[in-house]
Amino acid sequence: MPGMTGTESLARCIAIDGPTASGKSAVGRALAEALRVGFFDTGLMYRACTLAVARAGTPLDDERAVTALVCSLPLDMRWPDPTEPHVFLGDEDVTSLLRTPEIEAKVSLVSRIEDVRVELVRRQREIASREPVVMAGRDIGTRVLKEARTKIFLDASSEVRARRRLGEELDSGRTSTFDEVLSATRRRDELDNTGDRAIHPDQRAHDALLIDTDALGIDEVVARCIEAYRRLNPGT
Ligand code: DC
Repeated sequence: MPGMTGTESLARCIAIDGPTASGKSAVGRALAEALRVGFFDTGLMYRACTLAVARAGTPLDDERAVTALVCSLPLDMRWPDPTEPHVFLGDEDVTSLLRTPEIEAKVSLVSRIEDVRVELVRRQREIASREPVVMAGRDIGTRVLKEARTKIFLDASSEVRARRRLGEELDSGRTSTFDEVLSATRRRDELDNTGDRAIHPDQRAHDALLIDTDALGIDEVVARCIEAYRRLNPGT
């Protein structure tokens, strides 16, 4: 925003954390639309790096080579529509290539490399200091945007999260069962709960607002977030 310093831009951002399928994307998109700022899905950055690593044929167990490649990437995020983040590698918009089974299978091997995380956190902060964004992912309130005034931690039981994910999978034509999705959700929790990737509510930033979404509709969750944002950023 014209006239806003990088420090103020970081403070104005909204940080959203929570375990897999807790509603970070749905809530993040709705907030971005309501507040007219970009929705920054940080998982897309890890996915774009995974695509670049696969294209280059870099072995995933060679952490130094993977990190060197990630540091050299001309990676950027742009928002043709605030609710739809697009990832670019140079001039190429790679957004539509990032939800394939190949990327899905490899992304956690890239995102667990600490030096990759250091580099992507640096880039995420750089983008968030250009203009305020709603940023969702892992360790956003505790590491990426510590200075954001509005920090949200979305939680939901594994059963509720599995039911939501099952709905999405059935909608996209897959024939999963509830038990399959529930065990996949619990496996993802275990994989994601490493290092500083906090996914349990008791690991959230001390000043994060905890919202248990089990019994709430998305509109109610979004309304609580907007109320917190306005209270913490008077005059906006
Ligand atoms: O949220 P997602 O499924 O698109 O995330 C893809 C991968 O990136 C997954 O392994 C979690 C990881 N990730 C991360 O480590 N830190 C973030 N801020 C966002 C995603």
